[in-house]
Amino acid sequence: MVTATQFETEQTAARRDAFIERLFQSALGAFDIFTIHLGDRLGFYEVLSADGPLTSVELAARTGTHERYAREWMEQQAMAGILEVKETPGGNGARRFCLPSGHDEVLAQRDSLNYLAPLAQIVAGAVRPIDALLTAFRTGGGVPFAAYGADVREGQARINRAAFLYQLGKEWLPAIPEVHARLSGASPARVADVGCGAGWSSIGIALHYPNVRVDGFDLDGPSVELARTNAGQYAIGERVRFFVRDAGDNGLAGQYDLVTAFECIHDMSNPVGALRSMRRLAKDDGAVLVVDERVGEEFQPGASVVERLMYGFSVLHCLPSGMADQPSAGTGAAMRPSTLRRYALDAGFRGVEILPINNFLFRFYRLLL
Ligand SMILES: C[S@@+](CC[C@H](N)C(=O)[O-])C[C@H]1O[C@@H](n2cnc3c(N)ncnc32)[C@H](O)[C@@H]1O
Repeated sequence: MVTATQFETEQTAARRDAFIERLFQSALGAFDIFTIHLGDRLGFYEVLSADGPLTSVELAARTGTHERYAREWMEQQAMAGILEVKETPGGNGARRFCLPSGHDEVLAQRDSLNYLAPLAQIVAGAVRPIDALLTAFRTGGGVPFAAYGADVREGQARINRAAFLYQLGKEWLPAIPEVHARLSGASPARVADVGCGAGWSSIGIALHYPNVRVDGFDLDGPSVELARTNAGQYAIGERVRFFVRDAGDNGLAGQYDLVTAFECIHDMSNPVGALRSMRRLAKDDGAVLVVDERVGEEFQPGASVVERLMYGFSVLHCLPSGMADQPSAGTGAAMRPSTLRRYALDAGFRGVEILPINNFLFRFYRLLL
């Protein structure tokens, strides 16, 4: 007969062993992320996609890297099941490695909605200021967005790029018929895109609606520079402009048919101030759209992968960067619909409507004027 104490001991041991297994898996996952980051940044995946299968000698030569490092990376990637070994004619450096189909789309095809290499870049960027983060936890201060460096900025831009270029104007905005009609009209509609980052949402809107003029605003100077460079690749000329501005700046002026904020309200120290600006910038018959993380209605541990992912980013980046300017609302990435509704009411909106647009990561809020 098993006593209650024995049963508890066995349960504890089983839980311990499962947790040990989980931590090993997590370490392997972390190595996947950081080595994918290396492969992404060094152009390994791009070259393997275009010219693979390759030996480490060929990969190193094509990417301007050191053969010994390239070989170790390729072997590690093969062990991890990310690359495949095509031929093994023997001898160091002679093995050929390739990106299997499927993996190629995820790691090397930036126009695919399934492109996820930038996820590794954001995670790598999120841990860059780890010492400042430790201090912030102790003092209640923040970690400025700039301290995360180029990887968070660029990774964020790259991960949303395909959705903003190919889904925003094709699926998301057409799901709001009167906004779609207004932007499609012959008389030039105006859009303000706050917290625009590297500008892909503004560019996506301008590309889909050829008469629309978009002004993008972001607090981060290098993001605005990046946005200008990105826009310069398209024949959209003066229709898209970018400005370094705080979304909550009372001096922001203009009258816009649509005011948007993509994945940024939860990052802002003063989200109510930003929403108040957005309300002021919208014409009386205009629309205000906030797109933010699709976390649950309530805090519920174990609820969803999205929630776990968002809390990870929140602890390391979103909350500390939002706490860098004080006083701060201290929102974090797990901004629930009830929180946004409260912010919107405080900012003077009548209410918030959740739009029936299906998306794994985002929830779409229309703020009612
Ligand atoms: C997670 S990024 C999102 C960028 C872009 N909208 C996207 O979806 O890729 C958050 C952005 O909000 C910007 N931001 C944070 N606080 C801001 C503020 N008060 N005013 C304007 N932009 C702000 C940051 O600089 C950053 O570019």
